[in-house]
Amino acid sequence: MRRMRYDEPAAAAFRAGRHVPADGLAQWRAAVDRHLAPRPGMTLLDVGAGTGWWAQLFAAWYGVRVVAIEPSVAMRARAQAPQLVAGRADALPLAAGSLDAAWLSTVVHHLADLPAAAAELRRVLRPGAPVLLRSVFAGRADQITLLRFFPEAIRLVDDTYPQAATVRAVFAAAGFTVAAGEAVAQVSAPSLAAVLDGLDRDAHTPLRLIDDDAYAAGLTRLRAAAATATRPVIDTMDLLVLR
Ligand SMILES: C[S@@+](CC[C@H](N)C(=O)[O-])C[C@H]1O[C@@H](n2cnc3c(N)ncnc32)[C@H](O)[C@@H]1O
Repeated sequence: MRRMRYDEPAAAAFRAGRHVPADGLAQWRAAVDRHLAPRPGMTLLDVGAGTGWWAQLFAAWYGVRVVAIEPSVAMRARAQAPQLVAGRADALPLAAGSLDAAWLSTVVHHLADLPAAAAELRRVLRPGAPVLLRSVFAGRADQITLLRFFPEAIRLVDDTYPQAATVRAVFAAAGFTVAAGEAVAQVSAPSLAAVLDGLDRDAHTPLRLIDDDAYAAGLTRLRAAAATATRPVIDTMDLLVLR
């Protein structure tokens, strides 16, 4: 796929527009509780941590130590993660067997070499440690309310993002077994009008990669719907757990 660069505009837009309010993440917290089994003293690796909002949440929710790895200078400049390290998923700057769990949120579709990333995770994690992948997989983009207004963006996800089955197979080849796969809902915004108010195309990979006419047409549809919709915006993403 054409890969999005997390340059200055993208990082600024991501920081401003992609953080879901913590009270909308109750189901994510419950799912992470179940699969991570957080305990004092554990070290969690956040790969492709971006602006560090998950790293901060994990530190606040569980009091665990989080090591956040992020390749983009612009994302790192906006991150507030407690321990933030420059690095890439396919060449983790970490010792073998040094971590108790890994978290990758909306990262796998950015990885040019997923097998290398899976092998690196196998190397740095202790045996049995879980990898939690939060992702929009190919065929699942219609679970994101915003993207439903942009059918070309849904097609782009379907055509270029990995399928869940592919990711499972790649991790299996690296020595992991699939422990769980489930859909997890979040309250992304109080209303569609709030989504529209906060929308910055640069914050969303599929919206950045469709052409300008397709984006303009989707925006018109979104404006029309936002004028009358009143309910909170609920989105669903997938959680894949490997050990
Ligand atoms: C959509 S953002 C997600 C950020 C964060 N995980 C979150 O959910 O808020 C994708 C992130 O993956 C990072 N990324 C891209 N290629 C990567 C690679 N090879 N290794 C690690 N991270 C990568 C990007 O720089 C970006 O910060």
